[in-house]
Amino acid sequence: MKVIGIETSCDETGVAIYDTTVGMVSQSLHSQIDLHAVYGGVVPELASRDHIRRLPALIRQALKDAGASMADMDAVAYTAGPGLAGALLVGASVAESMALAAGIPALPVHHLEGHLLSPLLAADPPTFPFVALLVSGGHTQLMAVTGVGAYALLGESLDDAAGEAFDKTAKLLGLGYPGGPQLAALAEQGAAGRYRLPRPMLHSGDLDFSFSGLKTAVLNVVTAADWQSSHAADLAADFQQAVIDVLCAKALAALKHTGLKSLVVAGGVGANRALRARLDQAVRKRGARVYYPEPALCTDNGAMIAFAGAQRLVAGERPNSSPGIRIRPRW
Ligand code: KG4
Ligand code: ZN
Repeated sequence: MKVIGIETSCDETGVAIYDTTVGMVSQSLHSQIDLHAVYGGVVPELASRDHIRRLPALIRQALKDAGASMADMDAVAYTAGPGLAGALLVGASVAESMALAAGIPALPVHHLEGHLLSPLLAADPPTFPFVALLVSGGHTQLMAVTGVGAYALLGESLDDAAGEAFDKTAKLLGLGYPGGPQLAALAEQGAAGRYRLPRPMLHSGDLDFSFSGLKTAVLNVVTAADWQSSHAADLAADFQQAVIDVLCAKALAALKHTGLKSLVVAGGVGANRALRARLDQAVRKRGARVYYPEPALCTDNGAMIAFAGAQRLVAGERPNSSPGIRIRPRW
């Protein structure tokens, strides 16, 4: 079975083709970072327009690289949500139209399911069941995953997502967009320990998170009369350390709570090197193992959507055959 996947939920236009017997046969991706950088964040209207501009060429490229045509495809999977409504509409309209024209089903996919299953595409993938730590720009969640479509929420952020906290804190430190990777790079030049930042909900006894207070604590440091911008790298390191402390402690607690021995980390913040180093060490100490997607698949891409769609078909899902543009921005 061959599935072409389309991702347009935010600021990356991704297309990929997954073959259930061969694996990922092609991937094409365009990042809109340069387009939004001058505004310091994603401008939804510009994102939608750029998805429209980029999709046809990316689709042609993905088919060409796979040596295939739409006649070879068995389904079109697309991100139906959550995400920016206009951006989702572009991907959904294109995917549903292609499916209608080719006489094959269209599969609306949950963006987070794409992230969640992406570590299964790695060379040494985990097997079910596992605990998933999803850390993206919009979500921070711990889940018990027992199979495709079998996800039990164990805990989540009550306010900002981890990636959102990175992005907002980066802005406070005067860094550009996208903030997360820039803050992480700055943190690597500093040393943690100069600032005492909170570890929100570390001892809450549940598996929920909160990150907005941490961002406020950073705001208080940078607006204080004695703030010295030459200490920005140290502050970045302390912020990153605080986020990692909480993510790591809660992930370990989730392993303990479920009795599971595998932890899967997915979503953009999963690309953070310091987080990976800490988790690797802490999880190994518990006699468990941690799995990540390949670095290129941590952030948004079409491959995870093609793969999630294919897994759903393999699991026996019967797609809704009536045409319709199904987006759920707040899914
Ligand atoms: O999964 P993703 O690409 O998009 C969403 O579904 O949200 O995640 C993007 C988020 C952004 O908040 C970005 O700043 C953050 O992941 N991020 C990072 C790093 N790389 C991306 N945060 C910390 N360290 C990184 N290396
Ligand atoms: Zn994402």
